[in-house]
Amino acid sequence: MSMPCDMLVFGGTGDLALHKLLPALYHLHRENRLPSTMRIIGISRKLLPRERYIELAERHCRAKIEKKDFLDSTWLNFSERLDYLSMDASQTADFSRLTNILKSNPQNGCIYYLATAPHLFESIAANLARNGLAGSNTRIVIEKPIGHSLQSALSINVAIGEAFSEEQVFRIDHYLGKETVQNLMALRFANALFEPVWRAAHIDHVQISVNETIGVENRGAYYDQAGAMRDMLQNHLLQLLCLVAMEAPVRFDADSVRNEKVKILQALRPISGLDVQDKTVRGQYGNGYIAGHSVPAYYFEKDVDSDSDTETFVAVEVEIDNWRWTGVPFYLRTGKRLAKKTSEIIIQFKPVPHSLFSDSQANHLLIRLQPEERISIELMAKTPGKGMRLEPVELEINLAKAFQDNRRWEAYERLLLDVIENDSTLFMRRDEVEAAWHWVDPILRGWQQHYQRPRPYPAGSNGPELAHSLLEKNGCSWH
Ligand code: BG6
Repeated sequence: MSMPCDMLVFGGTGDLALHKLLPALYHLHRENRLPSTMRIIGISRKLLPRERYIELAERHCRAKIEKKDFLDSTWLNFSERLDYLSMDASQTADFSRLTNILKSNPQNGCIYYLATAPHLFESIAANLARNGLAGSNTRIVIEKPIGHSLQSALSINVAIGEAFSEEQVFRIDHYLGKETVQNLMALRFANALFEPVWRAAHIDHVQISVNETIGVENRGAYYDQAGAMRDMLQNHLLQLLCLVAMEAPVRFDADSVRNEKVKILQALRPISGLDVQDKTVRGQYGNGYIAGHSVPAYYFEKDVDSDSDTETFVAVEVEIDNWRWTGVPFYLRTGKRLAKKTSEIIIQFKPVPHSLFSDSQANHLLIRLQPEERISIELMAKTPGKGMRLEPVELEINLAKAFQDNRRWEAYERLLLDVIENDSTLFMRRDEVEAAWHWVDPILRGWQQHYQRPRPYPAGSNGPELAHSLLEKNGCSWH
């Protein structure tokens, strides 16, 4: 249910707040979706007067929001909601200033958005509770990565759990807010067509790829400690895998959906010790070209160790030990500085049991999240003319075209509105995050124990050669 509330953004001058959260809040304001009394208060250690913060926010929102949607009068109106507080979130004493601000709007509840480094989550939660700011009319939003390992995720979850009840906690994975990701659930659970074939008897394998052309940009210090496994695979890719593989929930509500997702995470076959050599590939980009421009190797990036062995690419062969999926490999890969930006899921069906035509190929379903949103099935059809020559033809659902009158929402718009409306269906529950780390931790340890240095790949390529052999040994190849 929607509550009158203020939103406090810790890390209010950081990239996430300026590039994603404020533009999303502007759109929600423009469409009259925000509670009328809602104030948005940026918090960081930087000393800034309110006017300077508003200028900073405006600069970023103007750059991000399409011209036709950015109206000066709407901005003026929106900026009245904005405020700024300079404080050190690790210092208990500084929280009294926050208390004073909140007291001036006592009828409002409060949403705390922790757009900060994860090492601050525990102290911020504890300080909020110590200052009586974690009551039942508050919610807390935390961003991935939640921790660095199972141990650190447990410790964050315990600290957050001591201050807030699980119903008050919203763990964001922005991939769950993407339109096509939700369409995946609609496709599977609102169309009777797919269910009978959505299983090992008919599916050969599944590929989930999130390929980026960008490098680490100005996040070298964070990324060099994280790498592709912690930054992307532990959260975004595993969440996509859960949505492809989970059973139909009994209802479309937060607990029913999350119960099914967690079962998949618990059914992932462990990869540990020497298995990492057969089942995983790590890579790191070297110098190369992206769209004709020369780009530096990862170890030349700002704030990255020159001898870094952090992976900027990872591919993993995953198996799910349950009735539906035993024997179906799920290939996951993600990397930075690859040739093309694409995020897609491929469901590769098995070939027909008895082939009448020599050029017949097995069908596949493509679910593309980015750059365009589309779902298509490749079917075999006869080419015109004499003889039975077959070719694959695409049956396409172009979502942008089908719903062209509807504005495409950014993931953060939907997710922020869900927090305001207290709907946690698209957020990760504590046990999900822990189950994901439980599976990822042994891989990270395996890499360390067997000193698996990342394989170099040129920027602008498709990743390290070895990533292809992961699939080739099973007679398939990346889409
Ligand atoms: C973030 C990662 O969670 O997702 C980034 O930290 C990555 O490294 C980004 O670039 C990708 O998100 P999107 O929405 O651009 O695919």
